[in-house]
Amino acid sequence: MGIEGSTIVITGASSGIGRATAELLAAHGAFVVLGARREDALHAVVAGIVAAGGRAACKATDVRRRDEVEALVAFAVAEGGRLDAIINNAGIGPISRFDALQVDDWDAMIDVNLRGTLYGIAAALPVFARQARGHVVNVVSTAGLQNVPTMGVYAATKNAVRTATEILRQEAGPHLRVTEVSPGMTATRFVDTISDASAKAMIEDQLGDIAMPPDAIARGILYALMQPPEVDVGSIVIRPTAQG
Ligand SMILES: NC(=O)c1ccc[n+]([C@@H]2O[C@H](COP(=O)([O-])OP(=O)(O)OC[C@H]3O[C@@H](n4cnc5c(N)ncnc54)[C@H](OP(=O)(O)O)[C@@H]3O)[C@@H](O)[C@H]2O)c1
Repeated sequence: MGIEGSTIVITGASSGIGRATAELLAAHGAFVVLGARREDALHAVVAGIVAAGGRAACKATDVRRRDEVEALVAFAVAEGGRLDAIINNAGIGPISRFDALQVDDWDAMIDVNLRGTLYGIAAALPVFARQARGHVVNVVSTAGLQNVPTMGVYAATKNAVRTATEILRQEAGPHLRVTEVSPGMTATRFVDTISDASAKAMIEDQLGDIAMPPDAIARGILYALMQPPEVDVGSIVIRPTAQG
């Protein structure tokens, strides 16, 4: 049991849930390898972890690029000697009503939330097969568990990942663990990705006083990773107590 000495890739680790997860897993002895687009922000997270006595490295990665996600995983294996888990966390939520026709935002959510996660799975699976051991953790959302206006495409991408996660779990065999984590409202930069003014105002209003700190999600991810190899935590839903 435990994650001490393990090598864990985290996408979207430059802020929010990914950053909090990197910091928590490193504090528990994992070597964390961080990917996101903003290199300066990644280096700042790595510096904070190293200053606290942890082990971390980073590589600028756009999850819309399959070659970059493969390079991130290869970098982790080269630096850590193995790959114990990949946390496909990178995601965006430029939500809007369908009649706003923000089709570019729909495409962006499909590319980052769905394709980016699939690229993470594709990059990690051959490594996990070679090792006969591994863990895929996909960060989805309570959107899709509860369907609400403005979240149509966002929830669709998250539910597509939810479906893929469950089928991967069924295909995975005895050596690969597969976990989906569904955060509710969490205080991160997430709202900044919303371009539609009315949807943004609505979410800011809903987040209001009830949003959880991102380490609430990090603790859920840690729980799944800390289980013994024969125990596979399939799904975790974490909401603020006040979320309806
Ligand atoms: N906050 C919430 O209430 C909430 C609720 C449910 C689910 N979630 C999910 O939680 C995950 C993390 O979001 P967050 O709330 O922590 O928001 P955040 O603070 O905005 O973090 C999103 C992360 O994704 C990265 N990212 C975005 N596009 C990327 C790309 N093309 N390639 C690589 N990295 C990319 C961002 O880094 P760069 O900009 O540096 O690339 C950032 O590190 C997402 O999957 C989101 O859908 C969030």
